[in-house]
Amino acid sequence: MANYEIFEHDVLIIGAGGAGLRAAIEASAAGVSVGLVCKSLLGKAHTVMAEGGIAAALANVDERDNWEVHFADTMRGGQYVNNWRMAELHAKEAPDRVRELEAWGAVFDRTKDGRILQRNFGGHKYPRLAHVGDRTGLEMIRTLQDHGVHQGIDVHMEQTILSLLKDGERVVGAFGYERERGRFKIFRAKAVVLATGGIGRAYKITSNSWEYTGDGHALAYEAGAELLDMEFIQFHPTGMVWPPSVMGILVTEGVRGDGGILTNNKGRRFMFDDIPENYRTQTADNEEEGWRYCQGDKNARRPPELLTRDHVSRCIVREVKEGRGSPHGGVFLDISWIRKKLPNAEEYIKRKLPSMYHQFKQLADIDITKEPMEVGPTTHYIMGGVRVDPDTQMSRVAGLFAAGECAAGINGANRLGGNSLSDLLVFGKRAGEFAAKFAKENSLGNIDNAKVDVAAREALAPFEQSGGKNPYEVQQNLQEIMQDSVGIVRHESEMKSALEHLGKFWQDVKRVGITGNREFNPGWHTALDLKNLLTVSEAITRAALERKESRGAQFREDYPNKDDAFGKVNTIISKAADGSMQVRLEPLPEMPDYLKQVIADNR
Ligand code: FUM
Repeated sequence: MANYEIFEHDVLIIGAGGAGLRAAIEASAAGVSVGLVCKSLLGKAHTVMAEGGIAAALANVDERDNWEVHFADTMRGGQYVNNWRMAELHAKEAPDRVRELEAWGAVFDRTKDGRILQRNFGGHKYPRLAHVGDRTGLEMIRTLQDHGVHQGIDVHMEQTILSLLKDGERVVGAFGYERERGRFKIFRAKAVVLATGGIGRAYKITSNSWEYTGDGHALAYEAGAELLDMEFIQFHPTGMVWPPSVMGILVTEGVRGDGGILTNNKGRRFMFDDIPENYRTQTADNEEEGWRYCQGDKNARRPPELLTRDHVSRCIVREVKEGRGSPHGGVFLDISWIRKKLPNAEEYIKRKLPSMYHQFKQLADIDITKEPMEVGPTTHYIMGGVRVDPDTQMSRVAGLFAAGECAAGINGANRLGGNSLSDLLVFGKRAGEFAAKFAKENSLGNIDNAKVDVAAREALAPFEQSGGKNPYEVQQNLQEIMQDSVGIVRHESEMKSALEHLGKFWQDVKRVGITGNREFNPGWHTALDLKNLLTVSEAITRAALERKESRGAQFREDYPNKDDAFGKVNTIISKAADGSMQVRLEPLPEMPDYLKQVIADNR
């Protein structure tokens, strides 16, 4: 075997956003050694893009809130294909995880009597999002990072993992490379936790930064794990649309939670035009009531802008398609209108939404206290991911755990805003706990040197093919196909054509060529990301084709309605012995009666 640098940890965590950090803290507290690998610098993670808050039924602002209402909201938002056990654990444990974060030093906004302040978000019945202005994810990462580094976690920054290493049926480590110098590394471990986040870079317009190429999803799939419900991609309704260089950057739902309204080019609040039946009783039908809700009136119903993200995104697409969009292909999001309502509106907006104020001022020369923003849907989050045991977070591959966005189950067909931050705290903790337990019960496995050498040769292949396909071009073509053919509105014929294109891109990937050497070579990094991007894109497309209905984040023009039969199944993707990708439908686990009752009681 060639000479690779080798590291050994009891638990290896791949990904250092909220889920990875929380898992690392828990595993380390259990007394095992922990290695934390980040693709980028520590602290740079998509977690910071969950700006508006952490959903947890603390009941600080509305005493009627409790875990049962949160559970029922999450299941309704996910259109009942969620894993009920994960949704239950999440709703029950989120409050403790938030209080723990507070004890570790997170500086939350406060109610007048000094408790953690909570704000409204789409699909949540009561104000539930514990927040720090519009920088909640950032504060969470800062807190977890501070806490984690003092526990003696070993951090490996700017490393990309290329494959998981197995000893028989068990995962025993990972093989990757250091991005700066291009040197290969072997990480031996008794248990591995994937916490790599999402897949946003498979699409052209996304709130995700360059790291999010579906690495954890693809690593798990290649190692023999199953992927669940990959068709469900969340298009956040409000990303920036102008100027082009910032297209897709997130505009927090907190803007709407604090009173922002959506209007078309006729000045009409089009969200009033299409209120879905299952939310009708909870939704205001006039401007005044919606505003009172945002100001904390417990008897008022939520404004239609706070319907679930899938619905709001589709309404925006409809407005644009029918010629009522804004000049740059979005709609208007207006918080400045509250000047009519509040004498201190400018101060209120700057206090509640400081990042949004600066983001628009600096990037688009818009003062959001005085003028509307232009926004449109942006690929934000994948509900689908590695299929895990709901209690332990272990996949079907022994020793391989997953948490946060790259794991699946809790969100069903659509995630409620704010549930990602609570998800990664609750299930990051659980993954760390059970990975540590697994590590204590198992020894380090054997590394198959021949397999490592094959992986290293494959990684270096693009250097042998200079003059081959340009990796940036392949990536761009892929993003365009996914955006246009497997996006917000889907159709069988377009998705079948996308699959054909993906087949061609797989050929392109084999012929990708780059120049230069292994040091500081972004072309090489891009070439190496392509395989993961293609794996997740194919999984999304195959699962979306298999689900012949519209539900939550999946809208099919050719099957525009929900179908009860599909409401009882998950889509499962796995790798067959011949290397092909297989998709099948599997019945949902049966929900126990006490949870059915919780849902019935909270309709
Ligand atoms: O809009 C937001 O602040 C995003 C939150 C989330 O995705 O949970």
